[in-house]
Amino acid sequence: MTRNTLSGVNDIRSAFLDYFAKNGHEAVASSPLVPRNDPTLMFTNAGMVQFKNVFTGVEKRPYTRATTSQKCVRAGGKHNDLDNVGYTARHHTFFEMLGNFSFGDYFKAEAIELAWNLITKEFDLPKEKLLVTVYHTDDEAADLWKKIAGFSDSKIIRIPTSDNFWQMGDTGPCGPCSEIFIDQGESLWGGPPGSPEEDGDRFLEFWNLVFMQYEQIEPGNRIALPKPSIDTGMGLERMAAILQGVHSNYDTDLFRTLIEAVAHATGVAPEGDRKASHRIIADHLRTSCFLVADGVLPSNEGRGYVLRRIMRRAMRHAQLLGARDPLMYRLVPALVREMGQAYPELIRAEALIVETLRLEETRFRKTLERGLSILDEETRSLSKGQNLSGDTAFTLYDTYGFPLDLTQDALKPRGIGVDTEAFDAAMQRQREKARAAWSGSGEAATETVWFGVRERTGATEFLGYDTESAEGIVLALLKDGQEVQELKAGEKGLVVLNQTPFYGESGGQVGDTGIMQGEGARVLVTGTEKKLGDLFVHHATVEHGSLKLNQALELVVDHARRSAVRSNHSATHLLHEALRQVLGDHVAQKGSLVAPDRLRFDFSHPKPIDDGELAQVEEIANRVLLQNEPVVTKLMAVDEAIESGARALFGEKYGDEVRVVSMGRGDGSKAFSVELCGGTHVNRTGDIGVVTIVGEAAVAAGVRRLEAMTGEAARRYLAEESRKLREVANILKTPVDEVSSRLTALLEERRKLERDLAEARRKLAMGGGTGGGDPIRDVGGIKLMARAVTGVEMKDLKSLADEGKKRLGSGVVAIIGVAEDGKAGIVVGVTEDLTSKVDAVALVRVGSEKLGGKGGGGRRDMAQAGGPDGAQAEAALDAIEAALAAA
Ligand code: ALA
Repeated sequence: MTRNTLSGVNDIRSAFLDYFAKNGHEAVASSPLVPRNDPTLMFTNAGMVQFKNVFTGVEKRPYTRATTSQKCVRAGGKHNDLDNVGYTARHHTFFEMLGNFSFGDYFKAEAIELAWNLITKEFDLPKEKLLVTVYHTDDEAADLWKKIAGFSDSKIIRIPTSDNFWQMGDTGPCGPCSEIFIDQGESLWGGPPGSPEEDGDRFLEFWNLVFMQYEQIEPGNRIALPKPSIDTGMGLERMAAILQGVHSNYDTDLFRTLIEAVAHATGVAPEGDRKASHRIIADHLRTSCFLVADGVLPSNEGRGYVLRRIMRRAMRHAQLLGARDPLMYRLVPALVREMGQAYPELIRAEALIVETLRLEETRFRKTLERGLSILDEETRSLSKGQNLSGDTAFTLYDTYGFPLDLTQDALKPRGIGVDTEAFDAAMQRQREKARAAWSGSGEAATETVWFGVRERTGATEFLGYDTESAEGIVLALLKDGQEVQELKAGEKGLVVLNQTPFYGESGGQVGDTGIMQGEGARVLVTGTEKKLGDLFVHHATVEHGSLKLNQALELVVDHARRSAVRSNHSATHLLHEALRQVLGDHVAQKGSLVAPDRLRFDFSHPKPIDDGELAQVEEIANRVLLQNEPVVTKLMAVDEAIESGARALFGEKYGDEVRVVSMGRGDGSKAFSVELCGGTHVNRTGDIGVVTIVGEAAVAAGVRRLEAMTGEAARRYLAEESRKLREVANILKTPVDEVSSRLTALLEERRKLERDLAEARRKLAMGGGTGGGDPIRDVGGIKLMARAVTGVEMKDLKSLADEGKKRLGSGVVAIIGVAEDGKAGIVVGVTEDLTSKVDAVALVRVGSEKLGGKGGGGRRDMAQAGGPDGAQAEAALDAIEAALAAA
């Protein structure tokens, strides 16, 4: 072993991958910890998870041999190692599984040969210390080990139990397996596999070779894989311990470095009574950091809750080590230094990880001390073997944020347990109370159905911040408001899944659309909404096949639509801040709509926004957009978020934690925009493309609405605008640049022509110019100018009458203008000297009556009226003449 005693974890990982690459294997990157292709798994827990569908033949890859170093988490769900971590030499919540895979390429013989050569030639393990197990009926594997390794029967142990038949879960690819062990010597207690002492540390299993041959379709139903295949898993931490000659994974170089960082920060030596705390912190640090890097954030449901439990467990141990301030986040740089090269996602997410850990620990510390002292008081009288009451455990959970396993972990060293049944009962009672409170809140009765669904299914896990496609399992189906077992082809209904990448309409952002498919079914998702805050409900139309409960489906969000929505949502944040900068601090969001084709933003502002201001807002938003800075999302406690200056919607209900979205460079070290927002956003502001404001209007007193477009829609809108402008320029026969001056000139010219025309018509009407006979009649010594005209606008009749009065000096003017539609207007004017004798109002009424109209109004010197029958114009003038004669 001497050659390799100095090999660090990073060297061993590379040596493994290089060896298999040299042997024709494609080196494939680790898949994320949140499985994209397996809805039954909480976390990726083996190297084969990403290849599950390749084994069964559903998915094709361009290679038939692969090798990986896979990140794995076993905490929560089926393989749960959490309780033991820290107290044993081998258990981890996070570990790396090295593997080689054959997809219908080589099988048992080559798999055993490749493994044997690696461990004996490359890693130089002593042959005489090695032994293997095989499944009891697998003679073929036993013979191959004899032939390839030269093992005698005593070194090939036949195991009849499921220990040597590997299954990923209740369903999926499976097959008999062969495990490789090393005898670490008599100094350690333990016996060979299959013996009563097999749980001891002496015989250490470090590599599992699975001969994948079957697919478990459902319990009791197993079919053959299209081709026999290979899946192997070597625990990197174990191999490192072996090669470094240590008996605990925690004594390998990588863990030593992390534990030293803990010791350095707390001043507590790594060995001694507090050894377990150091180990728990080191293990949980890895899990926490890798989960956050893969998009999981602490919460009270699902994956987020498992993460929170792990974080808080470590944080309690940090407190046990006497750390006065939050500790975990200070360890992140050490981890990134150790593992960032192999897993660059750690480097990319470092800032987010640091922030998430810091905030979680700061928050948890607020209740930790008090919770621990309650725990102390309540257990003072208990002795080994007794249980803490479930009610106390529940209070610790509910009020002090102690996950159940944290309480259990705290009591473990004293041999005290927790009455978990009573804990569950207390939890159930609280749910019922919440339900009763909700039922009484007056929401529509039809909505109560969701309460039953929510209680049975739990919250939907939303995956759509990180991926637009994933798999999910159907947990509830509704048709016409009733739960059903099945939705058939052609039917419409509502679908709830355990997890989904579809965004549920909220915060102004529309719900996602797309498709779901699997097991012969194809379903159109026409919309997604959220019920009870965290239940995602998909509006579905079954195109063909049928949708049944518990069916696994591939879920694919309409990517183009979602991208457009992302752009519009991020642009809404930019416009919000730009509006505030231009108009003032009183600008507050009153509502918004983020759709794929446009965005609408309503905000408080008392008056219309002028063009200059709009241009400025658009300019600021686009300037920040062009900085092309990453859009950063963090999870924070609401009060902290608001304290840090994030904009929140007044009156909006937020949970304990909120997502805080920052974008762009603002003043000093601040981001340009910081908002509480659960929506989906672009990765970098430049992804928005361009933002253009297309409308501004009032929606209510003191509330204005801005409409805008981004990206492709904006580009098309702007292209269409400029096309229209060019069309106008063509019509005007002028360059685009000169369109407005040309139009101004044209309009001015038109106004002048109109004036000239009116003047010409007036002259014509008054008989001026070429002379149209004298219209002045003498009526009993009073001059009467009476005439009917056409082509003069009604509003000009009065000025004609005034002009007539001037011309007469003393007399009466009566003018009737007949419009094109045959209606007539009439004006009568009387010069000042005659008003005591003659009343313009009386005369105009006489005329109006003849024209078929009624009434008329004005003063004694000038009055007007109208009537529908312009053909009677001359008769009306005659009537006025007669009336004047009689006056
Ligand atoms: N998939 C196998 C395991 O997890 C290699 O042990």
